[in-house]
Amino acid sequence: MCGIIGILGEEPAAPLLIEGLKRLEYRGYDSAGVATVVNGAIDRRRAEGRIARLEARLAEAPLPGTIGIGHTRWATHGKPNETNAHPHATERVAIVHNGIIENFRSLRQELEALGHRFSTETDSEVIAHLITRYLDEQQSPRQAAASALARLDGAFALAIIFAGEHDLMIGARRGSPLAVGYGRGEMFIGSDAMALAPWTDRICYLEEGDRVEVTRAGATVFDGEGHPAEREIRQTVQSGALIGKAGYRHFMLKEIYEQPSVIGDTLRSYVNPVTRAIWLPAMPLSLAEVGRITAVACGTAYYAAMVAKYWFERLARIPVDVDVASEFRYREAPLPEGGVALFISQSGETADTLAAMRYAKEQGQTTIAVVNVPESSIAREADVVLPTLAGPEIGVASTKAYTTQLTVLACLAIATARLRGTIDQRRQAELITALTEVPARAVEVLTHDDVIHRLAHDVAEARDVLYLGRGANFPTAMEGALKLKEISYIHAEGYAAGEMKHGPIALIDETVPVIVIAPSDGVVFDKTVSNVQEVMARGGKVIFLSDRDGIEAFGPGASATIALPKVDPLVAPILYAIPVQILAYHTAIFKGTDVDQPRNLAKSVTVE
Ligand code: F6R
Repeated sequence: MCGIIGILGEEPAAPLLIEGLKRLEYRGYDSAGVATVVNGAIDRRRAEGRIARLEARLAEAPLPGTIGIGHTRWATHGKPNETNAHPHATERVAIVHNGIIENFRSLRQELEALGHRFSTETDSEVIAHLITRYLDEQQSPRQAAASALARLDGAFALAIIFAGEHDLMIGARRGSPLAVGYGRGEMFIGSDAMALAPWTDRICYLEEGDRVEVTRAGATVFDGEGHPAEREIRQTVQSGALIGKAGYRHFMLKEIYEQPSVIGDTLRSYVNPVTRAIWLPAMPLSLAEVGRITAVACGTAYYAAMVAKYWFERLARIPVDVDVASEFRYREAPLPEGGVALFISQSGETADTLAAMRYAKEQGQTTIAVVNVPESSIAREADVVLPTLAGPEIGVASTKAYTTQLTVLACLAIATARLRGTIDQRRQAELITALTEVPARAVEVLTHDDVIHRLAHDVAEARDVLYLGRGANFPTAMEGALKLKEISYIHAEGYAAGEMKHGPIALIDETVPVIVIAPSDGVVFDKTVSNVQEVMARGGKVIFLSDRDGIEAFGPGASATIALPKVDPLVAPILYAIPVQILAYHTAIFKGTDVDQPRNLAKSVTVE
C-alpha cells in the first residue's frame, strides 16, 4: 500500500504534494511526509497520522522548492510514528517507497559496516543509504539510482530526488504500480492517475521492472534490462474533481446509498434492454466449452467469488474452484488446459490478486478480470475485462464495489449458462428480469435504515457477533462479519448455518447477537430455520433477515426481524448485502470509530 507522488513544477511543490496525497490517502493513513530540494539541499516535513496533520505542520513551517516528493504511509516495517514516516533521506538523497524491500536487513548491515547511520525501523530507509553509497563512490545520480535498484529484492514503487538536482526525479516500479504524468513544463509521478488528475490527464503507466528519469522537459523510460523503452502515453478517464460526500456523514454511507444507481449503471452496460440478453465483450475462447473456472480474489471480492461459485455451478453446471489470492499464488495449483481464471478486484492493484493472475496466465488460462478501476494493473494485464461501474469507492470498507461485482458475475453466469444450454430462453428471461429489478428492490432495502440503526445500538454492546447463512448467502454472512469487524472492531464470524453445531454453537449465549441471512428460497431456507431454532434454544439473540414469507414461516422467537423484498434466489446475495453493510455502519457509529478510514487498514493492498 502507501501512496507516493512526485512533482517537478514551476510553483512551490509542497501544497500540490498535499493535494495529491489527499487523493492517495485511501492507500494508507498512518503517517505522511513531503521532501523538496531547497537551494540545493534536501528539506522535509513529516507527521504521524493523517495528511491534515502534515498540512498543519507545513502551515507552521512552510517548505519551499519546486521539485518534491510525498508519501502517505501504511506501515509494514516499524511503528507508524513520525520517525518512520517517509520521505527517508540522507544529505544527498530523499526517497518515497511503496512496497517491501525483502533483503533490507543484509543491505543495512553492509551499509552500517561502511559507516552509514540509520535512524528508522523501516525497510525503506536502506534505499536512501544505498543510493548515497553509490553517490559517495562518485556515481552520477542516474547511475547511483540504477546501481541501488539492481540490489533491491522485493516489491517497490519509488520516487527519488537528489540534493543539488532541481530538474531530476527518478521513479521505478517492481510489483507496485507507478504512473508518470505529463503536464505543460511540469512533470509528475504518482501511485495512480487519480492522484495526478488535478494537473494532467496524460498518463504513462510504467511496466514491471521499469525505471524512469523525469525532468521538466519529459521522461525517459528504461526497461528491466536497462534499455530505453517506449511506453504509451494515454488519456486517463480519472476526474480531477475531488470526490465529495454529497451531504452524507461518511463516504461509506454515501456509497451504500449509491448502490441502486451504480448497480443500474452496471446492468445497463451488460443487459440489452430490447432483447433482454446479456452482452459480453469478445473473448478469446468459447464460454460454452469451458470445463472449469478458477476464481481468485481477496477480502470482500473473495466473497463475491464465493457467491459466483454457487451461480456458475447451479446455473451453468461448471465446477468452480475459489481461492484467496494469497494462498492461491503459492499453492502452484494445477490448472486445466483451456481453463478460465476469474479475478475480482475493486482497486485492480491488489498485489496477491495480480500475482495470482500472472500465475494463471503462465499456466495457459484465459484470464477474466472483474475490476472497478479501468486503468489498474489487473485491468491492463487481463485477457478480458468486465468492468464494474461502481465509480470511485473511497470508504475503506467495500460496499458498492461488492454489489456491482456480484451484478457482473451474475450476468456472466447467466450468459455462460445460456451458451451451454443449461438454462433455457425462458429461465434466462426470468433471471434477467430479476436482475434488472435489483436497483428498485435495493431502494426498498434502504428504507430499513432506521430499523437497522436501532438494532445497531444493541449490537454495539456485543463482544462477539455471529452471522449465519446457507448456499449463496453463506458468503453474505462472511461479508457481513467482515464489514462489522473492520469498521466497528467487534469480533464477528460468518458461518454456514449448517456448520454451527460442529463447534461455534458453543459460543452462543444471550450476549451474542446472531444475524441470520435467510431469504425464503426453498430447501436451504428450511434447513437454516432448523439451525436457527438450535441457536435460539441456547439463548442466542437472533436478528432474522428474510422476506415476509420467510418471517412468517420462521414464526416467533427472534429478537428482531427485517422483512426484505421477496426476490429470485439468484439476486438475494446482492440485496442482502445491503442490510449487513448498514448494520456495520451504524454499529461503528455507536462505537465512535473512524468509519471511512478504520485503523490498520488501507483501501489498496499493494503489498503481499
Ligand atoms: C473489505 C475490503 C477488502 C477488499 C480487499 C480486496 O471491506 O474492502 O477486503 O475487498 O482488500 O481489494 P480489491 O477488491 O481492491 O482487490
